[in-house]
Amino acid sequence: MSDVSMPGGLERPVVRPRRLRRTSALRELVAETTLAPRQLVLPVFVREGLDEPRPITSMPGVVQHSRDSLRAAAAEAAELGLGGIMLFGVPEDKDAVGSGALDPDGILNVAIRDVVAEVGDALPAMADLCLDEFTDHGHCGVLAADGSVDNDATLEVYADMAVAQAEAGVQVVGPSGMMDGQVAVVRQALDGAGHQDVAVLAYSAKYASAFFGPFREAVDSSLQGDRRTYQQDPRNRVEGVREALLDIAEGADLVMVKPALAYLDVLREVRDAVDVPVAAYNISGELAMVEAAAANGWIDRRAAILETLTSIRRAGADVVLTYWAAEAAPWLREGF
Ligand code: PBG
Repeated sequence: MSDVSMPGGLERPVVRPRRLRRTSALRELVAETTLAPRQLVLPVFVREGLDEPRPITSMPGVVQHSRDSLRAAAAEAAELGLGGIMLFGVPEDKDAVGSGALDPDGILNVAIRDVVAEVGDALPAMADLCLDEFTDHGHCGVLAADGSVDNDATLEVYADMAVAQAEAGVQVVGPSGMMDGQVAVVRQALDGAGHQDVAVLAYSAKYASAFFGPFREAVDSSLQGDRRTYQQDPRNRVEGVREALLDIAEGADLVMVKPALAYLDVLREVRDAVDVPVAAYNISGELAMVEAAAANGWIDRRAAILETLTSIRRAGADVVLTYWAAEAAPWLREGF
C-alpha cells in the first residue's frame, strides 16, 4: 500500500474506495455509465410468407416475424421508448443478384412500410442495407465471373437498394456489406433521389467473426465459406479506426463497431477518434452464449445481460443494437 493510504506506518488504510460502494444509493450517485431504453436499438427479422412468428433455434427468445407480429413488436418497442428498430428481411426466393432487395414489394421494403405505418416518427425505422439475405450464394454482394465478390458492381445495387428503402419510408439505412466506397455511393444515391433526410448508420468496423453464426439461421443463409475478403481481420485494431474515419469522410451520420464484445478495444478507440455518434452491435453469437449458459443454470441471465449491455456502453457505444432491447428496457427503470 502507498504512503498516502498508510501514513506513519499505521496498518489501516485511509483511502477507502469501498466507502462509495456501501449502499445502493451511493453506488447510484457515482455510477459512471448510464443505460437507458432510448440508447437501445432492437434488431428484428421478418420473413416473407409467415402467418405466425417462427422461433430461431440458435437464438433463444428471438423469432422470424410475420408481418403482423412485426407490427406488434414495433408498437411495443415504441411504447417502451427504445431508440430504434433495425429491420432484416428474409425473402421466400433468393437469386444470384439479390433482386428481392430492390423490389418495392420485396419483404424488407414491405416491412419498412408496415413499421412506418405503425409507429410513424415515434420510433426510427432502420434497415440493413446488404445483399446477403437476398442472394442464393449468401454473400453480401454480387459475384464476379471468378466467384469473388465484385465491389463496384455491388455498389450499384446498394445505391438502388438505398433508394428503394428510402421510398418505403426508412429513416436510417445501415450499409453492412463492407464494400469499399459504400457509404459515399449510398449517400449520393439518396441525395440524388431527394432523400437527403435519410441518415446513414455505417457498419464501419465489421469483422469476419465466428460469432455471426446464429444470424445465418435467422436469415436462412446459404453461405458457403466465409466473408474474409471483405469483412475485417479480427487481428486489426488500427484498421477499425481507419474504416470509421473513411465512412465519416464519405458522409456517415453514425458509425458502428461489430461484433461488440470481442472488439470493445476497437469500440473505445473509435469513440475517441470520431465526432459522430458511435453504435455497437451485440450480435447473435453474443446472445447465444449468454442464453446457453443461462439455460444450463451456469450464470444469472438477467445480471449477465445487464452487465453485457453496460460494458458495451462503458467501452464507448452511444447506441447499442441488442436483441434484448425490449426485454431489458423495463429492467433499466429498476436500476442496475
Ligand atoms: C449482414 C449482416 C450480418 C449481421 C448483421 N448484418 C451478417 C454477416 O455479416 O455475416 C449479423 C448480426 C448478428 O450476428 O446478430 N447483412
